[in-house]
Amino acid sequence: MKCIAIAGSLREGSYNRALLRAAKDLAPDGFEISIASIADIPLYNADEQAKGFPAPVERLAGLIRDADVVMIATPEYNYSLPGVLKNAIDWVSRIDKQPFNNKAIAILGASAGALGTARAQYHMRQVFVFLGGLVMNRPEVFVGSAQTKFDENGELTHQETRDFLRMYLVEVEVWARQVARMVG
Ligand code: FNR
Repeated sequence: MKCIAIAGSLREGSYNRALLRAAKDLAPDGFEISIASIADIPLYNADEQAKGFPAPVERLAGLIRDADVVMIATPEYNYSLPGVLKNAIDWVSRIDKQPFNNKAIAILGASAGALGTARAQYHMRQVFVFLGGLVMNRPEVFVGSAQTKFDENGELTHQETRDFLRMYLVEVEVWARQVARMVG
């Protein structure tokens, strides 16, 4: 079971990337999570697209195509998903036979606020309606008060969150298998 994980933050100390690193450690046996970068993806411009897709976009699309499930950890910026993440999704969505269609997707997020990116995640769900992405409904992962749950090295130290994430990853694997059966 191959999972490509994307953090919607370019920040070195990103809680969302730290959450994906924790997920990599806590995943069940045989569930391989690789964390992809969106740092090299330029701003979307249809004129640039007309000249050919930038290599980092092609690379990300290929990783998504090859994965059984895409996991996206998003920060919340002004009640929505960050521009860098939306930009990456927008680029990939323009590729012929865009790879989000019929793909199992799991979304999660961490923020210092109480709601743990709930509003951003609901906006992202809406984006994947148009793209045909099959986002797992439940369980949802809203890691609020993130500054109290990760240590200064970006290690997820909050035991309840670790336990919840471990259970969540089992459900993500189940979801990916269901989608694989459904879409053949
Ligand atoms: C934020 N932040 C924030 N947090 C939140 O819970 N709701 C929000 O609407 C916003 N809005 C917002 C806008 C902008 C422009 C920034 C830069 C930040 C705080 C944000 O959640 C926090 O910086 C997280 O730590 C970002 O995620 P990473 O980088 O740690 O993964």
